[in-house]
Amino acid sequence: MPADLNPIDKAKFAAAKRAVDFVEDGMKLGLGTGSTAAWMVRCLAERVRDESLRVTCVATSRRTADLAASLGLDVRTLDEVKWLDLTIDGADEFDSNLNLIKGGGAALLQEKIVATASDQMIVIADAAKEVAQLGAFPLPVEVIPFGWRTTKALVEETLVSMDVLGRDVSLRMNGERPLLTDESNHILDLHLKRIGNARQLALVLNQIPGVVENGLFIDICDIVVIGQPDGRVSVRDINTGRVEDDQVPLAPPDNIFADLE
Ligand code: A5P
Repeated sequence: MPADLNPIDKAKFAAAKRAVDFVEDGMKLGLGTGSTAAWMVRCLAERVRDESLRVTCVATSRRTADLAASLGLDVRTLDEVKWLDLTIDGADEFDSNLNLIKGGGAALLQEKIVATASDQMIVIADAAKEVAQLGAFPLPVEVIPFGWRTTKALVEETLVSMDVLGRDVSLRMNGERPLLTDESNHILDLHLKRIGNARQLALVLNQIPGVVENGLFIDICDIVVIGQPDGRVSVRDINTGRVEDDQVPLAPPDNIFADLE
């Protein structure tokens, strides 16, 4: 690990490194997207190299697929692999029930498909991602470009009857142009501040024509691994209720991270 990482990145690294301990030889794995997931891909590649593990990977974005392939991991399509043992991904927020907001990196659609196609999903995060109630992070909603303004108006109309604190909706931009996802869709960011009933909101949003998927992950995540900058990690399993505290060695520089130094 590079020595000069900031505290948040050290925490993300610690969570990622601990989560990779869950990987077993022969597994079919979903690889998440984002800065925490990128650490996980590097830690996974290190284990695969050092222990000669045979794992098959499905990525949740082109970025992750490119990174994983560049580190020598076996990357296939979900259609080739069909069902996965485990997906490890980051999150923008998680609550005590391990419900999530995802999509800050615009990859929520593939992330939700891949996580849902997995026996188990582990979220890796720094402690700042934990919230009492979801919604401070703007909720990403993927919409098709055709008629997106109409879809936005329908989303705004829908929010009027929802238990949320804010109702501003913005189109995510990439410079001067609307951002395009890997599926060539747009992202609407819903500035809700507080979501009273995330399950209901997730269902209602997906009823709107033009909405492809929303970034609320309800009852999908099984385990969260929360990292601290000093390498401490806490592993919480929502199914068993077990909480384990652990310490991850913040390792010296290694080949797998050479391009980051
Ligand atoms: C990608 O679309 C997101 O769901 C990410 O998983 C989320 O934004 C977390 O990103 P970081 O790990 O970069 O904080």
